[in-house]
Amino acid sequence: METPFVFGKIATDENFTDREQETERLVGNFESLINTIIISPRRWGKSSLVHRAASIAQEKDKSLRVCMIDLFNVKTEEQFYTQFVRSIIQGTSSRWEEAVENARKFFSRLVPRISIGSDPANTVNIDFDWEDIRKDPDEILDLPERIAKEKGIRIMTCIDEFQNIAEFDDPLYFQRRLRSHWQKHQNAGYCLYGSKRHMMMEVFADSSMPFYKFGDLFFLEKIDLPHLSSFIRDRFSATGKTISDEACSLIVSLTDNHPFYTQQLAQLSWLRTTTSCSVKEVSQAHESLVEQLSLLFANLMETLTFQQVCYLKALVANESSITSAEIMYKYHISSATAASRSLKTLIKRDILDNRSGEVSFQDPIFAYWLRNRYFRI
Ligand SMILES: Nc1ncnc2c1ncn2[C@@H]1O[C@H](COP(=O)(O)OP(=O)(O)OP(=O)(O)O)[C@@H](O)[C@H]1O
Ligand SMILES: [Mg+2]
Repeated sequence: METPFVFGKIATDENFTDREQETERLVGNFESLINTIIISPRRWGKSSLVHRAASIAQEKDKSLRVCMIDLFNVKTEEQFYTQFVRSIIQGTSSRWEEAVENARKFFSRLVPRISIGSDPANTVNIDFDWEDIRKDPDEILDLPERIAKEKGIRIMTCIDEFQNIAEFDDPLYFQRRLRSHWQKHQNAGYCLYGSKRHMMMEVFADSSMPFYKFGDLFFLEKIDLPHLSSFIRDRFSATGKTISDEACSLIVSLTDNHPFYTQQLAQLSWLRTTTSCSVKEVSQAHESLVEQLSLLFANLMETLTFQQVCYLKALVANESSITSAEIMYKYHISSATAASRSLKTLIKRDILDNRSGEVSFQDPIFAYWLRNRYFRI
């Protein structure tokens, strides 16, 4: 039997819940080509939200094309340009023959190398000589605007894991270049999103950076208990099983409303259920999830310094003023400077999140494991 929960993939249709306001806002931005920036920690549902909004907006407005680019594996400017061109050409062509024609038509100064993949979809691969792009990348950066004008359409380009551009050789120069082109576009808009909040904040929320105030900036929240509860209940009943209200609430509280983990724990609980799921199945499923991840967490702890471990211990013990003399003494934190250095590194490593001074764990299962297994507080 097919399992009713999805995690680690884009959530669509019946696997997608809530986000009504965010979807509406994003669809509106896509329709009006308003540049948009979305920031949230890992696995809270950015990609799912963008895909959903893209399909609704394209359904509503036939002259709109949404092109998707993922910078997950992109480490250099050259790779960025190649991905950018491929996604725009593919996303605006209905057949591979048209993609080839467009690749030829829309470049006059750059000479594209075109090859057709051997897959059934005949994927069109387009490459350029890097030296040529380096001298003159304008044709590439203006491609969405030029195609949109020529074809009488509007193009929204969505770029996932955008923070990766901060690791290019000369990121400031590159960002200035992107912005100077993109802000002039009338028929093309850009939706930029990524998971590393601290890096995204550096790119978009720092007034000295080129992308400061580039567009509508929004922070995605977690999904609230009522939505997650009714979602879990519906998915159980779609497969002929039931779940109690307490069990639903327990799944959500144990995963701290984290969308990915909520679906994963719901799935593990569902697998343990014959007809009706109670808190007993959820607790057992949670134990097995913690067990399953404990090796990974133990390995992570080995990479931390003693001061970082001390800081985490004070944090999981819910100490509010970690830099007070008493708390620092109790947890062996050597100084306030050491504490702030630990915090900075733990944020940089995506272990902690700092939202307007409120520090929290990015991974709720890791926090649980630390509290109950590692430190046994
Ligand atoms: N609206 C939603 N309703 C239900 N589950 C969701 C929703 N959004 C996300 N999820 C759950 O979270 C998982 C991760 O979603 P998604 O890949 O969209 O997040 P992301 O923020 O893009 O993650 P990453 O940081 O890894 O890029 C999904 O596989 C699904 O289990
Ligand atoms: Mg994603």
